[in-house]
Amino acid sequence: MNIYLNDSIFRPIVKAIAKDKLSCYVIGGYVRDILLGRPSKDIDIMVVGSGIQLAGRVASVLGKGVRVTVFRNFGTAMIKYRDYKLEFVGARKESYSRNSRKPVVENGTLEDDQNRRDFTINAMAISLNEDSFGELIDPFEGQKDLKKRIIRTPLDPDITYSDDPLRMLRAIRFASQLDFTIEKKSLKAIRSNRDRIRIISFERITDELNQILLCNRPSGGFNLLDSTGLLDIILPEITAMKGVDVVKGQGHKDNFYHTLQVLDNVSAVSNKLWLRWAGLLHDIGKPVTKHFDKQTGWTFHGHDYAGSKMIPPIFRRLKLPLGNDMHYVQKLVRLHLRPIALVDDAVTDSAVRRLLFEAGDDIDDLMTLCEADITSKNDEKVQRYLSNFKLVRKKLVEIEEKDHIRNFQPPIDGELIMKTFGLPPCREVGIIKNAIKEAILDGEIRNDYREAYDFMIKKSTELGLTKVNP
Ligand code: CTP
Repeated sequence: MNIYLNDSIFRPIVKAIAKDKLSCYVIGGYVRDILLGRPSKDIDIMVVGSGIQLAGRVASVLGKGVRVTVFRNFGTAMIKYRDYKLEFVGARKESYSRNSRKPVVENGTLEDDQNRRDFTINAMAISLNEDSFGELIDPFEGQKDLKKRIIRTPLDPDITYSDDPLRMLRAIRFASQLDFTIEKKSLKAIRSNRDRIRIISFERITDELNQILLCNRPSGGFNLLDSTGLLDIILPEITAMKGVDVVKGQGHKDNFYHTLQVLDNVSAVSNKLWLRWAGLLHDIGKPVTKHFDKQTGWTFHGHDYAGSKMIPPIFRRLKLPLGNDMHYVQKLVRLHLRPIALVDDAVTDSAVRRLLFEAGDDIDDLMTLCEADITSKNDEKVQRYLSNFKLVRKKLVEIEEKDHIRNFQPPIDGELIMKTFGLPPCREVGIIKNAIKEAILDGEIRNDYREAYDFMIKKSTELGLTKVNP
């Protein structure tokens, strides 16, 4: 079968290989994606010979100033040209040892190279050679698998996954991204090789997890991670939410399936990765706070706070960023019950102001998470809760328009307090600053310099301080 390669980027490559009649192919994800009707700009070029040398030749055909980045350790090279990313690799044969996913690599043929690939749909090649340009070389019926929407390994899956355990996650990620099914034999092999995931660095694991989280319906991927036993190893905090305890005929909901539903709900309305992480982690404090109360039944008091405390160790372990993104996830988890308290008609402006202050610019994302957290099967209930949250959103907008709390900076800062009372940095400065903030949030004074100044004088008199500067 011939594939019509009409992208002009292939011309300089064909020119570069012509003189020495090199055997050269486009292979892997690009071929898969072109057959799926979504040509990409990320192109893997495989040559029987040296990938680094070929990259040099292609660069000189492309013109002056085109740079080749060489990865000597991997024997590969890369050219970034316009919005293309071209990766060049020599055909290779790989053999693996048990304790590493780094293979022993030898030069190989096209066939050797296709044999070492992860999935049949990723092992197809298209010839760039003059006499067979465009010919699809598909020894493992990858094209058929694309049609049947199946993830299958070219060789025995036990070997493919044991050789490179990252492929277990890749299988789940591709199944989830493409909405494909993983072949039964493959699923069984993932289950039995699951412990080998431990030899993979968390950077790589997390890269796959993020891609799963960014799928249209991430629950598909997470259900597979769970049923293969991988989730238990990678994120035991999530599987700990599985199951329903029953006491005196009363059960609680299964928080694992609830979480996956929340994650899908968030994903239906937002592509933000960290909001999706917040959806995944919002209830992780439930297993440790679970309690059966004779009067009220099952409770999870404080699971919001407990969950937020669990986030830094998880981010550290998964090698996720520890800065603003983590604080954002922590904040949403910590605050995810607060909007519920604002539903009440009798709720004070002060409570609304406090939430606005704590959530800051993330208030809309917090509301999105809360709305996604409604997973009742009773549609009437869902609609009622959603319209309650609509009212909360309205209250938030009204108070914000009035009091400008979202990016609240107290009108009096520590400098001014120190100057007014001739103080060095000390406890009293903190006390006054905090009292001003609280008074504004409580509505005792307005978010205004004059009122805050007068309040500062009043508060400092209580503390026995005297003004030394006007
Ligand atoms: N590959 C593999 N085993 C891996 C990683 C990659 O066999 N653990 C092979 C596959 O043939 C894959 C190709 O290397 O198609 C390129 O890998 P990569 O760029 O990571 O993935 P793509 O298939 O291009 O897909 P995506 O860009 O969506 O990750």
